[in-house]
Amino acid sequence: MNQHGEFGTATRLPTGVSLTAVGIAAGRAAESDREEPLFRDPYAQAFVDAVGGSAVDGMKDFSGYVAVRTRFFDDYLDTAARRGCRQVVILAAGLDTRAFRLNWPDGTRLFEADLPELLAFKEQVLSGRRARPACRRTVVPVDLREDWPGALAEAGFEAGQPTAWLVEGLLPYLEETENDELLDTVGRLSAPGSELAMDHIDSSTKRKRLAAMSDTLDGIGATWRSTLDDPAGWLRGHGWRIGDAPTVGALAARYGRGAALAAETGAKPSGLASAVRED
Ligand SMILES: C[S@@+](CC[C@H](N)C(=O)[O-])C[C@H]1O[C@@H](n2cnc3c(N)ncnc32)[C@H](O)[C@@H]1O
Repeated sequence: MNQHGEFGTATRLPTGVSLTAVGIAAGRAAESDREEPLFRDPYAQAFVDAVGGSAVDGMKDFSGYVAVRTRFFDDYLDTAARRGCRQVVILAAGLDTRAFRLNWPDGTRLFEADLPELLAFKEQVLSGRRARPACRRTVVPVDLREDWPGALAEAGFEAGQPTAWLVEGLLPYLEETENDELLDTVGRLSAPGSELAMDHIDSSTKRKRLAAMSDTLDGIGATWRSTLDDPAGWLRGHGWRIGDAPTVGALAARYGRGAALAAETGAKPSGLASAVRED
């Protein structure tokens, strides 16, 4: 990026499913601007500016959810790191800047996997801002439907070490069978003491509250290909013991956001869950 914030011809702006990462960054930028934010992301606005805010206008309705989801996973990673996971793998990291903005224990090694086009864009924006990670960070350009464990190992991942995994905002974009395979693979790579957090969208939320959003995503080539009604059950079935799988109401109470949604959905699962590997 040059001094005017423009990209050279070499780097392409994110498109299709990778454009959704910019929508999430827009939500994080909006939250960071609030008076008492749930977190501060100092780079989120730079990503949005680089693409042009209007490209993600259709995703703005999502920003309340993005705020609580981000904070939920910030808290999860903070706890997992303090409990001893010095290796962190963020699958479909998108424009996540936790490597830069969280307070990591010494010796933390963090990997961010995502599609090559998205990571090239991300690195260019971050280097334009002279961003410095607060841990040892490695990006792994990869398609998560292909042989990503090989690429992760080549990047320095050690399967013998307890790992904190994060799968945020990815699963709806994959088919159900691809998600099962992904979770099986994560399980195989998880040493004792490993932890995992994920989110998904349930079928009725997709059909009702988020029908317009789902249409917008179809229009940019980022179709939601799967839903999940029982995230905790899915994790348990793959060898994980649930640590936290709050209802929408519990999330609203915890973070002071989304009371209206909680009143609408009652005691429904929020779609967010964290878990610890069964021995
Ligand atoms: C909604 S964004 C979420 C990004 C990030 N986790 C966050 O919450 O800010 C979805 C991300 O999934 C990535 N993605 C989708 N399909 C992928 C695939 N097959 N392999 C790797 N990354 C993928 C996209 O490039 C995009 O960055």
